[in-house]
Amino acid sequence: MKLFDVYPLFPVNIVKGQGCNVWDENGQEYLDLYGGHAVISVGHAHPHYVEAVSRQVATLGFYSNSVINKLQQQVAERLGAFSGYEDYQFFMINSGAEANENALKLASFHTGKTRVLSFSHSFHGRTSLAVEVTNNPKIIAPINANGHVTYIPWGDANAADAELKKGDVCAVIVEGIQGVGGIQVPTDEFFRSLRKSCTENGAVLILDEIQSGYGRSGKFFAHQYTGIKPDMITVAKGIANGLPCAGLLISPEFEPVYGQLGTTFGGNHLACAAALAVLDIIEGEGLVENAAKVGQYLIDEISKIKGPKEVRGRGLMIGMEFEEPIKDLRRSLLFDEHVFTGVSGTNVIRLLPPLCLSQAQADQFLECYSKVLAK
Ligand SMILES: Cc1ncc(COP(=O)(O)O)c(C=O)c1O
Repeated sequence: MKLFDVYPLFPVNIVKGQGCNVWDENGQEYLDLYGGHAVISVGHAHPHYVEAVSRQVATLGFYSNSVINKLQQQVAERLGAFSGYEDYQFFMINSGAEANENALKLASFHTGKTRVLSFSHSFHGRTSLAVEVTNNPKIIAPINANGHVTYIPWGDANAADAELKKGDVCAVIVEGIQGVGGIQVPTDEFFRSLRKSCTENGAVLILDEIQSGYGRSGKFFAHQYTGIKPDMITVAKGIANGLPCAGLLISPEFEPVYGQLGTTFGGNHLACAAALAVLDIIEGEGLVENAAKVGQYLIDEISKIKGPKEVRGRGLMIGMEFEEPIKDLRRSLLFDEHVFTGVSGTNVIRLLPPLCLSQAQADQFLECYSKVLAK
């Protein structure tokens, strides 16, 4: 059987990782400024993570959600305390799309309504509701186009308010910083206005922090720059450093109802052990502060180099937008300089490295990047 060919692949077979580096099957080392798409938060093969996951899989990898799972309770307590959402409730699933799917379902159960507001260039995943709120017609199958969603121009709080005033909106879903949409940072006013309009009109505000959360922006959640508190927050990607794991933080206003939400694999023992190890490392090694410091250094230094027309982002979530397509630049970074980077659309390079990136590694990237630009 062949693989279903949905990914345009680079001809590189990565077989090993350590910290912010990965190696291919020929022993070639690469600097990882991509983190496997913002997933590697605490670095590849961190010894504490390896030990915790190995110990757990040798003890109990999985048991069902029909019995007490103290590891899930520990993840909820630790995450609540560390993120400033101690009074919220936590529901665990396996992927970002599933987190958004459940958030939207819960918002609809809660309000009894069906319309959702989402924003231009948003990305929220590929399952039915998650893809419907994603503003990319190319990936919305006819079966997913169910007319639940009104797309608002990114940043247009007045347009969102006008829709919310109609009274039939169950939820507004918005990314903390738009990732796939090209690293678009919201203004404080935009998020504050959304918060106010949702409260006034009985709609649920869902913050998708799947890419921008877990310390990547230099605060635990990117929306914490704006001082608002959403009704729900979705997390995935970096939460377990590569093991499938995701979560939904739910405000105390939501009453849980038996049977409304559920999952076989979500919050399993192995995923929880990984999530706890990630929190140990992020807290113990000050990785949120590191993301803020090294991220700002990178943004400042990249801005000094002539090349992109705009450099945007917060912490270690950085976008470099060029006038022209960056395909060749990115290929040259990978094949000539052995640096992995991400992309958004045709003209934006995205940097999403592990949060432990050091200043020396940032300098190494800057040197490679300057060399490639000079070609
Ligand atoms: C902001 C955002 N939301 C949701 C998702 C979907 O997550 P997953 O691929 O784990 O379903 C992604 C993935 O890139 C994302 O960036």
